Amino acid sequence: MPQDKYILAFDQGTTSSRSILFNRSGEIVATAQQEFEQIYPQPGWVEHDPMKIWSSQNATAADALSKANLSADDIAAVGLTNQRETTIVWDKESGKPVYNAIVWQDRRTADYCRELKQDGIENMVSQRTGLRIDPYFAGTKLRWILENVDGVRERAEAGELLFGTVDCWLLWQLTGRNVHATDITNASRTLLYNIEQDDWDEELLRLFEIPRCLLPEVRSSSEIYGEVHPKLHPAGAPISGIAGDQHAALFGQACFKPGMAKNTYGTGCFLLMQMGDKPVRSKNNLLTTVAWRIGDHTEYALEGSVFVGGAVIQWLRDELELVRDVHELNRLAASVEDSNGLFLVPAFAGLGAPHWDPYARGAALGMTRGTNRAHFCRAALESIAFQSADLITAMQKDSGLSLRELRVDGGAANSDPLMQFQADLLQESVLRPGCTETTAMGAAYLAGLAIGFWDSPESVAQNWQSERSFEPQRNGDEIQALRAGWDKAVERAKGWAD
Ligand code: G3P
Repeated sequence: MPQDKYILAFDQGTTSSRSILFNRSGEIVATAQQEFEQIYPQPGWVEHDPMKIWSSQNATAADALSKANLSADDIAAVGLTNQRETTIVWDKESGKPVYNAIVWQDRRTADYCRELKQDGIENMVSQRTGLRIDPYFAGTKLRWILENVDGVRERAEAGELLFGTVDCWLLWQLTGRNVHATDITNASRTLLYNIEQDDWDEELLRLFEIPRCLLPEVRSSSEIYGEVHPKLHPAGAPISGIAGDQHAALFGQACFKPGMAKNTYGTGCFLLMQMGDKPVRSKNNLLTTVAWRIGDHTEYALEGSVFVGGAVIQWLRDELELVRDVHELNRLAASVEDSNGLFLVPAFAGLGAPHWDPYARGAALGMTRGTNRAHFCRAALESIAFQSADLITAMQKDSGLSLRELRVDGGAANSDPLMQFQADLLQESVLRPGCTETTAMGAAYLAGLAIGFWDSPESVAQNWQSERSFEPQRNGDEIQALRAGWDKAVERAKGWAD
C-alpha cells in the first residue's frame, strides 16, 4: 500500500508563525513555531516587518517537515490561515514592502474613522461590508500608507504596487511571486469588499481613495490557488485552502450548523456564530462576516471581536511582573473564590464589539485595602470571560438563536478557572475539544477538501471530540450582580484617551 500523505497548515498569527502537519485522521504529526518582533513606534501603533512574517513562516515549514521526517512528496496540500486585517503594500517587481505591515490592533486611523462617522456614512458602509467604521479593518490602514509614505500613491496609481492581507502576501511569496489572490473571508475584513454584490465596492474604493489595481483577485476558501515554488517548502505542493484564522477555527471546530459557535481565546477573543447561507445583520454592534466559501456555496457568521483577551495574561506576567507564568496565574486565580470586588477592564487597545470605542483605555476599579495579587489574577481571567459573555448576549439578541454550548480553543482555553467562570457567566456548557489547534486544523481541512483528501465537511466533523465540558455552578442572581458590576466598570473605561 502506498504511504499515506499529510496536509501542512501554515498558521501565521499576530505573535508567531507556525507550521502544523496533520494526518488523515486530523491528528497532529509535527509542529514548528517561530516568534517575531512586535514593533510599537508610537502609543496605539503596532507594526510587523513583512519580510520577517514571511521568513519565519518559511523557516517553520522546513522545520515541521524535518521533525516529522517527511519530504515535499509526502505533502498532499498546503492550507493557509492568518492574522486578519493586517495590511501590507509591496512593490510587485522588487518584492519589497513599501512600509511595515500595519497590524490589526493598530489605532492610528481612529481620528479619520471618527470623521467618517461624523459624515453619517456608517450605515451605508456597514450595509455593504457587514463591518463598522473602525481602525481595526484594513481599508483605513491601506489609505494611511497611501497618504503618508512618500511616493506611494503615485507608484500605486502607476500599477507598480500590490496590496494584501497576510494570506495574500504569503500566497504571493509561496508561489514564487506569481499569484496575487486572497480568499473571501480575508477580503470580507477589509472594509472594501461588498458582501452583497460579491466584489470590491467601487464607491468605497472612491471614498477611501484606493486604486483598484492594488487589489488582489478574490477566490473561494477551498480551491487550488497555485503551487509552492520549487525552491521553497514543500516544493510543488498545491496550496488549496485559505481562510482568516477565526473563520478557519470555526471550520476546525466543525460549527457547520446555524447557531453553533466557537470562541478563540488568543491574543484577543474572537467569537463566531455560524448563521447559514444568508448574511444576518446585527442590531447589537456585531459584525456580519463570510464564514467560508466552498465551491460557489457561501456560509456567513456573526462575529464579535475582543481586542485584548489572552494578552491580559501576558501583560500581568511581562509588564506588571505579578506572576512568573500562566500556571502561577491560574493557581492564584483559583486560590480565591472571587476577585473581592475588583474589575479589570483591559481596554489597552480600545474596546471592540459590542462597544467599539477606540479611545477607551485599561482600568482597574473596585480596589480596597484587602485587594491582593490573587484577586488581580482572578480579575484578569474574569475580564476575558466577561468580554466574551457580552458578545454572546449580543449574538443571541441578533440571531434569536439560543446558545446550547460554546466550543472553545486558543491558548487561554486551557485555563480551567477561566473556562469554569465562562460557563458560570453564560449559564451554558463550555466544551473544550481534544485538539485545541482548531485554526490550523480548519485550514488543513479546507485544503484537504479541495483535493479530495477528505470528501465532505461531514466526514471531518467526525474527528471533533470534546476533551472536557464545563457546566455552570453559580446561580443566576449571583451572575447578574457580577455582570452589573462589570458593565459599570466598562462605562468608566470608555473615552479615556479622547
Ligand atoms: O482579527 C485579528 C485576528 O485574526 C488575530 O488573531 O490569533 O493572531 O491573535 P490572532
